[in-house]
This record gives sequence, structure tokens and C-alpha cells, in this order.
Amino acid sequence: MRDGKRRSGWREWHAGAVVAVVMAGLGAPAALAQMALPTQAPLTGAELFKRQCGTCHTTNAADQPRQGPTLAGVFGRKAGSVEGFRYSPGFAKADFSWDEAHLDAWLTNPQAVIPGAIMPYRQPKPDLRAALIGYLKELK
Ligand code: HEC
Repeated sequence: MRDGKRRSGWREWHAGAVVAVVMAGLGAPAALAQMALPTQAPLTGAELFKRQCGTCHTTNAADQPRQGPTLAGVFGRKAGSVEGFRYSPGFAKADFSWDEAHLDAWLTNPQAVIPGAIMPYRQPKPDLRAALIGYLKELK
């Protein structure tokens, strides 16, 4: 999907470049200055989720659980409360609900939030964590 987008972006740019060259040949340098350069849009929370979490987490409670519990309705949900999912033992002592601060700390380093947690993921970039949390908030 991303490659498809990139390819069409390239095509647009390429077409623009051809036009620019033709116009430059006609002595229209002002048009050149207005040519937009291709930009790489930052990934949305949904895209990040698909790539970085989707292998292990579904977003629909009715789906078959993967390696991790479903994240449907995770925002505001008590940690470790998906029925039938076998969390690591540390979750038994986790007495909080998932809010921004807990999710941010969790995505930075799960084991710092719940000792012994078995989620093998860390995201050091605050902007990417924020995008992911924004997406998690929307999951009903
Ligand atoms: C390789 C698999 C894997 C990946 C990738 C992964 N997780 Fe997890 N996640 C888990 C597992 C396993 C658990 C349960 C941890 C435990 O029991 O110690 C978990 C637990 C969680 C929990 C706690 C849920 C609850 O019910 O309390 C949240 C929130 C979470 N993951 C979010 C994410 C997000 C967001 C991403 C992507 C940025 C992600 N995870 C990527 C495997 C993964």
C-alpha cells in the first residue's frame, strides 16, 4: 500500500518535472519555482498500528486473539482485563487503567511499567508514540 502511494507520488513528480523542463525551455522560470516537490507524509497512527502492532494485536474484540490481547476499547480499560487472555504474572498487580501517561510509558518500555511483561516492543520516538496513542483512543 505504501509502495503504491510512493509510486503514484513519483509519477506525479515525474510528470511535473517534464512540464517544468518544457516550460523552462519556453523561458518561464516563474513556473519552475511553483513546482511542488514530492513530500513524504508522516505515517498516521492507524498505519503505524498496522505495521508495528497488528501482528500481535487485533482491534476488534470478536477477532481471534493473537500473541497479545485485543486492543478494542483499550483506552480507559483496566490493565490486564481482557477476559480469557493469559497475561504475564505482573499484570495481577497492575492497578490502573490505560490513559495517555500509562500508554506512553508502556510503549517506551513495557517492562518499566509492568515488571516481567512479555511484550517485545519499544518505541523511543515521542511523536510516533503520540500518533499511536491517538489511534488507540479511537478504538471502541
Ligand atoms: C510481538 C508482539 C507484540 C507487538 C508487536 C506489540 N504487542 Fe502489545 N502486547 C503483546 C503481549 C504479548 C501483551 C501482553 C503482555 C503480558 O502479558 O506481559 C501485550 C500487551 C499490550 C497492552 C496491554 C493491554 C491490556 O489489556 O492491558 C497494550 C496497551 C499494548 N500491548 C499495546 C501495543 C501497541 C500499541 C503496540 C504497537 C505499537 C504493541 N502493543 C505491539 C504483544 C505485542
